[in-house]
Amino acid sequence: MLHAHVTSWAIAIILFIVSYFLMKAGKAKGHKITSMILRLFYVFIIVTGGMMFIQYLSGDYYAISLFVKVLAGIWVIGSMEMVLAKAKKGASVTGMWIMFFISLILVLYLGYSVL
Ligand code: HEM
Repeated sequence: MLHAHVTSWAIAIILFIVSYFLMKAGKAKGHKITSMILRLFYVFIIVTGGMMFIQYLSGDYYAISLFVKVLAGIWVIGSMEMVLAKAKKGASVTGMWIMFFISLILVLYLGYSVL
């Protein structure tokens, strides 16, 4: 399950960046397709992560950091959507990119160094 989770978020991040740059390049169709596949990968991330979360809930000592990890994971997904939504509207995306990187660093730190 961990492998499926890591593969899902790695592909999602690549799709997110490709989708963003396709939008910036004015390739509306390519952006639409990649952003739809990206949403499918959000489902994979949440299902694989959610299943591991339920398994781990059976009384582990690092439960608090696991909760923070799950919230940070949801925050990464939220910030990817916010970057794309704001960019589509033509609004400033600097703040959203900063949020994306902070949440991503947090989740990678929690995933690889704490849990
Ligand atoms: C884009 C968003 C996400 C990223 C980048 C991410 C990243 C990671 C990383 C780096 C790990 C550790 C992998 C390893 O030990 O080899 C991990 C594990 C895990 N993730 Fe996520 N995750 C994300 C979203 C989520 C979501 C939404 C959930 C819950 C619904 C979730 C639940 C979990 C759980 C339960 C683990 C296992 C913890 C452990 O045993 O180390 N993740 N994730």
